[in-house]
Amino acid sequence: MKATAKAHTNIALIKYWGKRDESLILPMNNSLSLTLDGFYTETTVEFDDDLTEDVFYLNDEAVSGGEYNRVVSFLDRIRKQADKRRLHAEIRSVNHVPTAAGFASSASGFAALAAAGAKALGLQYSSQELSALTRQGSGSACRSVYGGFVEWEKGTKADGSDSYAVQVTAPGHWDIRVAAAVLSPDAKKVLSREGMKRTVNTSLFYTRWVESIPADLAAIKDGIMRKDFEKVGSIAEANCLRMHATTLAADPPFMYWQSTTLLIMEAVRAMRADGVPAYFTIDAGPNVKVLYLPEDEEAVQQRLRSVPGVQDVIVSKPGQGVTCM
Ligand code: DP6
Repeated sequence: MKATAKAHTNIALIKYWGKRDESLILPMNNSLSLTLDGFYTETTVEFDDDLTEDVFYLNDEAVSGGEYNRVVSFLDRIRKQADKRRLHAEIRSVNHVPTAAGFASSASGFAALAAAGAKALGLQYSSQELSALTRQGSGSACRSVYGGFVEWEKGTKADGSDSYAVQVTAPGHWDIRVAAAVLSPDAKKVLSREGMKRTVNTSLFYTRWVESIPADLAAIKDGIMRKDFEKVGSIAEANCLRMHATTLAADPPFMYWQSTTLLIMEAVRAMRADGVPAYFTIDAGPNVKVLYLPEDEEAVQQRLRSVPGVQDVIVSKPGQGVTCM
């Protein structure tokens, strides 16, 4: 009743932003991501008849509070499916992130937890079923079940059974790179869960955001198939700006960017003006990820490191999907 799994995080190029069902984590829109080899989580789940409650260690430290409760309620879903409701587990998770700077990811975390938890209880899942289960821990995590470019299909059913991710292309399809510029390690002020809820309920721009997704998705998938870097990069950058625009039009308004975030955006535009194709994307926080081609690795790293406030730059290639050991 013990299993270990490893999952990489992913960066959305077409963002998931907004839920139509909070408890099942069903999204308003399809999203598309690239799994990254630079960041991953390894999780061991061991069910034990002698335990009277679950225990959760993250990077060897016992976790309690909200983070613990989220893990326990996710395990409850797995226990229910295995009809082992009273069985408790010890969960040990290690986040492998090259620096300790605020890059812990719920995407790699829940993908590894789902795969290890399901395997430890002997549940045999297809990738689609595993993705639908993982989604219920954290939406973006359902994409980390697969490597390469991945689309999360929002589905239409009320029970969420058709809301899961599918692979668009395997990691070997196209060697593009992502540099993560690390800023402040501060905790997010508005968590993505809370931020997307406020946006759905109050943002003047939210309907237009949802309407804009199908065209972006069709175009970016075409760009990925043809390996048209400028097309993929420019769609990703515009989609990210549109997502962040919805937060500015929420009530009360909020924004995830810091001054360094803007400096990096300017540096990326300046690189483009100098003939280096590079594009940024930003999730629900101040850190910026920059897409570029392998031949520009030196130039991009140097430029990003020279931006005041950038503490580190972590480089990723397309990563693999979740694996069990
Ligand atoms: C901005 O997956 O963290 O990174 O489903 O509430 O756990 P929950 O949210 P989460 O949100 C990610 C939002 C995003 C965009 C994306 O990854 O698609």
